[in-house]
Order: sequence, then C-alpha cells, then structure tokens
Amino acid sequence: MKIVPLTDEDRVSVRMLELACIREYVEQIMEKKWEDFDQEVRQKLGASASGSFSHYRDGGLSFVAKEGDKVVGFIFAQVIPWIDGIEKVAWVENIGVDQEFRRMGIGYLLMRRLAEESKKQGATVVHSSISPDNVPSLLLHRKLNFLAEDRKIAYLDLSTF
Ligand SMILES: CC(C)(COP(=O)(O)OP(=O)(O)OC[C@H]1O[C@@H](n2cnc3c(N)ncnc32)[C@H](O)[C@@H]1OP(=O)(O)O)[C@@H](O)C(=O)NCCC(=O)NCCS
Repeated sequence: MKIVPLTDEDRVSVRMLELACIREYVEQIMEKKWEDFDQEVRQKLGASASGSFSHYRDGGLSFVAKEGDKVVGFIFAQVIPWIDGIEKVAWVENIGVDQEFRRMGIGYLLMRRLAEESKKQGATVVHSSISPDNVPSLLLHRKLNFLAEDRKIAYLDLSTF
C-alpha cells in the first residue's frame, strides 16, 4: 500500500469511493435515504465533484492510498489563509477508506501524510470537521492527538440571504 498525491488518473475511482463513503454517512449516521438526494445534488457532493477536484489536486494536500492500482483511500485538504485568527490552517475536507481496507492503518497514514505536507507548506494547525456520532472518525482523530471537542460548524447559505 502506498500514499501518493492525487492525480487525474484517480479521478473516476476516487469519485466512486468518496460517494460510497458519503452514502454510508447519509444512511448510517444521518439515517436518511440516499435515494432522497436527487442526481443533481449527488453530483455536487464531495471534494471529488467536478467543480472542486482540480482545486484539491493542485493544492498539494490531497492524497490517495493505493493497493496496486486500486484506490482504497483518500484525503482531500487545503490550506486556508486564516481561521479564527490563526494563519495558514490546513483544512481537511474529507477522508475515507474503502470498507474492505479499514482498520489497517490507512486512514491514520493518510492523515499523517497530510499533517507532514501541510507543515512543509507552512501550516501550524490542522482543522477537521468531526461528527460525535461517527465513532471511527472520532477515534482516528483522537489517535492522531487532535483536540476533538464536540464542535460542529454552522453554515449560512448565501444563496438564500
Ligand atoms: C474514519 C475512517 C477514514 C478510518 O479509516 P481506517 O483506515 O479504517 O482507520 P485506521 O485503520 O487508520 O484506524 C486508526 C485508528 O482509528 C481508530 N478507529 C478507526 N476505525 C475504528 C473503528 N471502526 N472502531 C474503533 N476504532 C477505530 C482506532 O483507534 C485506530 O487505531 P487502531 O487500529 O490502532 O486501534 C474510515 O472508517 C472511513 O472511511 N469511514 C467512512 C468515511 C468517514 O466517516 N470519514 C470521516 C469523515 S470526517
């Protein structure tokens, strides 16, 4: 297994894997039906969506885990110039591992690689959104010594403002 920077050749497989992870989250944690999200909404979900893929590919902080040629994990992240008065924050947009490859340390290695590379880019901290209901994610963050308080992020949809 190797962790490598995200490239165009991973576009289709990482899209499928990210959507599978989002679907799992929707069904198991949000307890909603995937079918309730129409095709147009599904197309926009995730960092691997066509509108944002190249942004993450070019930022140097997004990686895939590969077993041979198979994409078995991903992390999409970017550096944000300022958050809460902190300069250069690495923001984890999404992380996911193929169900058949979980509990093998892949999520941990993806997150470590992100931390190393973002430090090289001058980041001083990594922010990641966690849901207290998502136990594997919470425990992964704890293993990496994230301060994982019960924090959620509030959104204002500016299209309705
Ligand atoms: C969260 C996720 C990325 C973890 O990936 P993973 O490769 O299975 O994680 P790792 O094998 O690297 O586990 C690292 C540590 O996290 C914790 N952990 C991960 N999954 C766990 C589980 N199901 N139960 C208990 N602890 C778990 C453990 O502490 C583990 O260390 P250990 O194996 O030495 O005990 C994976 O479960 C996933 O893709 N979930 C669906 C998508 C998702 O929820 N993403 C998070 C969005 S923020």
